Amino acid sequence: MASRGYRVRDIRLAAQGRRSHEWAREHMVILNNTMGRLRRSRPLRGVTVGFCLHITKETSVLLLAARELGATVAACPGNPMSTQDDIAAFLAKSGVHVYAWAGQTQKEYDACIASVLSHRPSILVDDGADMNVMAHFDRRFSGLKVLGATEETTAGVSRIRAVERAGRLRYPVIVVNDAHTKHLFDNRHGTGQSTVDALLRSANLLVASKAVVVAGYGWVGRGVAARCRGLGARVIVTETDPVRALEAHMDGYEVMRMADAARRGEIFVTCTGQTGVITKGHIESMRDGAILANVGHFDVEIDTRFLLKKSHRVREVRPGMDECTIRRGRRVYLMARGRLANLVAAEGHPPEVMAQSFSNQLLSIIHILKNHGKMERALHRVPESIDVQVARDALAAMGVRIDRLTREQAAYGSSW
Ligand SMILES: NC(=O)c1ccc[n+]([C@@H]2O[C@H](COP(=O)([O-])OP(=O)(O)OC[C@H]3O[C@@H](n4cnc5c(N)ncnc54)[C@H](O)[C@@H]3O)[C@@H](O)[C@H]2O)c1
Repeated sequence: MASRGYRVRDIRLAAQGRRSHEWAREHMVILNNTMGRLRRSRPLRGVTVGFCLHITKETSVLLLAARELGATVAACPGNPMSTQDDIAAFLAKSGVHVYAWAGQTQKEYDACIASVLSHRPSILVDDGADMNVMAHFDRRFSGLKVLGATEETTAGVSRIRAVERAGRLRYPVIVVNDAHTKHLFDNRHGTGQSTVDALLRSANLLVASKAVVVAGYGWVGRGVAARCRGLGARVIVTETDPVRALEAHMDGYEVMRMADAARRGEIFVTCTGQTGVITKGHIESMRDGAILANVGHFDVEIDTRFLLKKSHRVREVRPGMDECTIRRGRRVYLMARGRLANLVAAEGHPPEVMAQSFSNQLLSIIHILKNHGKMERALHRVPESIDVQVARDALAAMGVRIDRLTREQAAYGSSW
């Protein structure tokens, strides 16, 4: 089965990874404050935690925080392409059992998750549910004693909810994604900014005046739409949910079906968590030079099979940007092979926003350790006390002071 220790692309990148880690840590003030409160009691002493998260500089801050609190840490990426190799090397040097490198095959990716599970973690921290699904359904791990898990993203929540619905859930799972201090900021502001970052790094074209089609007006879509509008794009939204479509319309975006948007768009960004959002038919009706990016968790939103396998010619014209020549010499540009563009073509979310998500993660891990005996095998919300604490810490870190209800106001607000 799995090798112990670590497996990374090039351990010599560790020094570069350390500098990147330090930059992120410096800007993750809330997480540092949370650590200040926990350091002395070392609540993770003797616990092995398995992490399946994008191996970025921000994640390295969480992993080393868990180690500092006493945990043995094993980690693999939440996506075959999202690893920052210098960070993986730095983590390996820092004593983390890390199995991660950029550009993995599906087989290598699965093997890395298995390597983490072979450390017999009692807590799992997942992003997209690949590790939780393996822990549930791969016979090699049927004897694994897991006290509880957390899930970081919307797509992972849908999958783990399906396991719960089927009555197969083996341990409690805290849905970190649904904490207010997670999805309102990470999904929206984090993905909004890092998607624009990826577009600029990969294409470096003018966004102002371009027709940008955003598929899905959830937390991620709202962020991407707002940031693109901020750069002067003409944003078009496609949706399947009538309420969210209405919201996008009243927020001032053009709303239409993808079949219509496909002919109008110059840049497309899928943010739905669904499959088959941009199909072969849509792609064939696009104008020459259209750019396609996906920031939903899995590479199923755009028909990449058609683009990469059926095009007359595919060539990488810029790092992470494939030119696919389809019918009649028309070219469509696919970013990051349809994988999470903001993580593959850029560095993922900025540290400040990940500090909020990861404070929720750290406090949820501790909550599971203290309370797993009382928690049902079900999906659980992040306790409100944690959510509020993270919001207070974030405000304090940004130097923002707010009012408190007076006693009179509290009484007024709760009287009939
Ligand atoms: N790239 C990142 O760093 C990052 C960060 C957070 C979340 N995510 C992922 O992004 C995806 C969206 O997350 P979210 O939090 O915005 O979810 P969400 O549920 O809030 O929003 C998704 C929206 O897409 C809409 N939708 C579904 N199918 C559609 C279709 N065929 N056409 C148009 N719209 C459709 C839904 O109605 C919904 O409004 C998920 O896969 C999530 O895991 C990625």
